[in-house]
Amino acid sequence: MQVAIIGTGYVGLPTGVGLAELGHNVVCIDNDESKLAKLKNCELTIYEHGLQELLEKHLNKGNISFTASMKEGLLDANLVVVAVGTPPHKDTNEADLQYVYAAAQELAPYLNSYCVVAIKSTVPVGTGDEVEEIIRKINPQASYDVISLPEFLREGYAVYDFFHPDRIVVGADSIKAYSLISKLYEPLLATSTNTKMLCVSRRSSETIKYASNSFLALKIHFINEMADFCEQTGANINEVASGMGLDHRIGRNFLKPGPGFGGSCFPKDTMALEHMAQKYEVNLSLVKATLNGNQSRIDNMAKRLVTVAKEICDEPIVGILGLAFKNGTDDCRFSPAMQIVEDVLKLDPKIVIRVFDPKAMENAQFILQEYADRIIYVKNANEVSHSADVLAILTEWPEFSQINLNYCASKMRNKIILDYRNMISIRRAHELGFSYSCIGMGTDDLHQQQLSRPL
Ligand code: UGA
Repeated sequence: MQVAIIGTGYVGLPTGVGLAELGHNVVCIDNDESKLAKLKNCELTIYEHGLQELLEKHLNKGNISFTASMKEGLLDANLVVVAVGTPPHKDTNEADLQYVYAAAQELAPYLNSYCVVAIKSTVPVGTGDEVEEIIRKINPQASYDVISLPEFLREGYAVYDFFHPDRIVVGADSIKAYSLISKLYEPLLATSTNTKMLCVSRRSSETIKYASNSFLALKIHFINEMADFCEQTGANINEVASGMGLDHRIGRNFLKPGPGFGGSCFPKDTMALEHMAQKYEVNLSLVKATLNGNQSRIDNMAKRLVTVAKEICDEPIVGILGLAFKNGTDDCRFSPAMQIVEDVLKLDPKIVIRVFDPKAMENAQFILQEYADRIIYVKNANEVSHSADVLAILTEWPEFSQINLNYCASKMRNKIILDYRNMISIRRAHELGFSYSCIGMGTDDLHQQQLSRPL
């Protein structure tokens, strides 16, 4: 099948490469010439595990190509996938659809024979209708269907998720369009036995995307609130989450407590859903509570860190592990770690930060330019500890659980660890004389852990 993908970001690029791997001929269209030059040269513009190898394979085979020209990209296309950004509008927080509308306007003149226009960008309910209308006005002769084809890839795991999706949701009112999408994913469905394909109305499909992300965000917010509860009652949130997760109706996924959720999807999509609800005069009280609660949590995490650091000295050095919004990515958009770093620096002008992230240093450095004189970017996780008074773990990179605590103990000025991702062995930290605190465990429980429970 001949596929055109508009947008080569965290969704468009893995999708394009994945479809090439399924045997389709893919042309990726983007208006950023510098990005295109890199991609044509097989240089990734984002970090995504496993993507480089696949891109190289299909560039060499000629199954994927890149262009800035809509005319060239849409030549003979059976399917056009719109995968452009829908960031929050800076004033209202609703999804900003300018890139979706622009894509619709630009592609419309080049729809010649029957073509499916699939919206993969996360868009408010009813956007499919608007896109259909935009195309009709510009090219009344065109034969096409506009469908919703939401994306459920996680950043950092996008390649894996592309080939192992739980479901493929198709929001289409036309059998012809649904058949084309079935054909598109046929090679994947033939091997991935756990994948379900679901055909629903376009509006339901648009809603499924927002409802899914908001539900997951709510689940994280719930476990974070339970973590606060455990801290006061002496229970242990890790044990509570394990106990809850064994119930299949609840499930263990997305019950990891932390400093709050972030990224380019959950905050943006919960805000957009809340905005839509206001428009339709529906009270989504849980979504509202999730949004506000998550923001307060991130603020409190920064305050907690400052309080701990200032208790120990007037001009503390804080070692930070992690800047990306989660592990596996270089993405710092709406990252709780980034917000905490910024807040800490704002809250106390005497604090200096030493920081390391395996992939996000470059992006973070760019965003945090105004604090350049108070942030030292170091080469590895252990170096963060040099002369530090407090070590704070903000992103759940697996390698942080393996940090050399012996080395850190010998290099730190004061031995304090604030583990916002519950990654470090409590027993080991205590053996080395660290004052250690994490999320969702009262002090009593930390002591009990040292007694090493039989289970
Ligand atoms: C999310 C969804 O998981 C994807 O299904 C969806 O396709 C994507 O948004 C999107 O809309 O494009 P992503 O933003 O890549 O994916 O990241 P997640 O893995 O969902 O994590 C989001 C945030 O929640 C991170 O800050 C992470 O650290 C936090 N989190 C996640 C927790 O604090 N606890 C958990 O148990 C899980």
